Amino acid sequence: MSLTRLDKYLCDGNVGTRSKVKELLKAGRVRVNDTVVKDGSVKINTDSDKVYFDGRELTVEKLRYFMLNKPAGCVSATKDKLSDTVLDMLKGEDTRDLFPVGRLDKDTEGFLLITNDGELAHNLLSPKKHVEKKYYVRLNGQISEEAVRKVEDCIDIGDDKPCLPAKVEVLKEDEVNITITEGRYHQVKRMFQAVGLEVIYLKRISMGKLSLDETLAPGEYKKLGKEDIEQIR
Ligand code: URA
Repeated sequence: MSLTRLDKYLCDGNVGTRSKVKELLKAGRVRVNDTVVKDGSVKINTDSDKVYFDGRELTVEKLRYFMLNKPAGCVSATKDKLSDTVLDMLKGEDTRDLFPVGRLDKDTEGFLLITNDGELAHNLLSPKKHVEKKYYVRLNGQISEEAVRKVEDCIDIGDDKPCLPAKVEVLKEDEVNITITEGRYHQVKRMFQAVGLEVIYLKRISMGKLSLDETLAPGEYKKLGKEDIEQIR
């Protein structure tokens, strides 16, 4: 159930500013189901109540957010002819207006945010915002201190510009966490390739302040609430 104040709902539906909405309510131009409501503080259930302004039903786009633990083998797209997409993982949800925020490679697992909130997606993906993305990485060999230093320190991966600084946390000789603030094509794989190592397993474990819920098995997802989104906004 999703409860919200009537006046907020009317503002979100672009009926008018807060003061205009107050006026319209007072004038009896707003109905919730069969009842004229004049008090903007009344809570409505946006899943089941119908709100009418001057007799016409108001529809307010609802912003929705899902945390998917992306499994390997599906693509970060909304449609694909050959493979399952990340939207196919959201079984039982209406996915028509949803899209993944950014891309993970087909063989990468982990946290993928799926939403219909274009503004949030834009902010999270904007190169100017430097949102931190943390990945768990297994390598095909031992990583040296020198390689760690190189990967952290603006490594050149053959693009126009070197990478921005990264943070590497060594977990085992061939396992690390890496935090980057960009989202270039195959970036993590290419950063390690540049020091002669191959990424054999890659999983995103957080984006901004929001971490993957480790109780989600690959392929499982959960809905995120307002509080979760505030952490990442
Ligand atoms: N870096 C990669 O190389 N692949 C991903 O899927 C994400 C980051």
